[in-house]
Amino acid sequence: MRSDEKLTIALAKGRMQDESLALFARAGITVAAEDLSSRKLRVSSRDGGYSFVFVKPGDVPAYVEYGAADAGVTGRDVLLETRADVHVPLDLRLARCRIAVAGRRELSGKDYNLMATVRVATKYPGIATTYFHEKGVPIEVIPLSGSVELAPLLGLSDRIVDLVETGTTLRENGLEVLDTITESTARLIVNRASFQLKNARISELIDLPTRALDA
Ligand code: PRP
Repeated sequence: MRSDEKLTIALAKGRMQDESLALFARAGITVAAEDLSSRKLRVSSRDGGYSFVFVKPGDVPAYVEYGAADAGVTGRDVLLETRADVHVPLDLRLARCRIAVAGRRELSGKDYNLMATVRVATKYPGIATTYFHEKGVPIEVIPLSGSVELAPLLGLSDRIVDLVETGTTLRENGLEVLDTITESTARLIVNRASFQLKNARISELIDLPTRALDA
């Protein structure tokens, strides 16, 4: 392998990180344990063929679109929200969840027509705006970056648009799903130039799930 063909892969930190690394490991691409337990944000695979960088899920598309990373792993939710200009060649079928509208149980039957403007707290302003716009419901988006479920409890918003995986966070905060907007899983994304210039190596990546099964 030519040294200029080393691939840099941006992995979403958090819930997707372990599953992504496990997939690479099943395909024989492993990282030293001491690197994983360190605070390093960039680590190499043992075979030297890959450099993994760990970034916030919402930042993965920027690293890949601008070519700082050749490829990345992040959720479909993030891709819908950021509308990044990247190749999305593969659904990795990891970290399955849905993007849903939720609200307080006791108010869940309340008609949108009875609300002047629906206040929606979310980490997904774009997805929320499109969803309610298509329904003809005027909204005011309240952008938050985490613990979104708190907003309806404290009267900050009428609704939230957020990820639901197990449903535990909603349940334990007295909220319920009112509508599912779409499903999301982890996707492999690839920089458009890398796709052309490092095609052989990118093809290996796209083959990752097959290699993981064969290993
Ligand atoms: C996500 C999401 C929900 C929760 C859903 O938050 O925003 O809060 O997970 O998971 P569940 O259905 O399995 O309970 P995350 O853990 O990423 O933290 P955050 O609130 O800081 O964004």
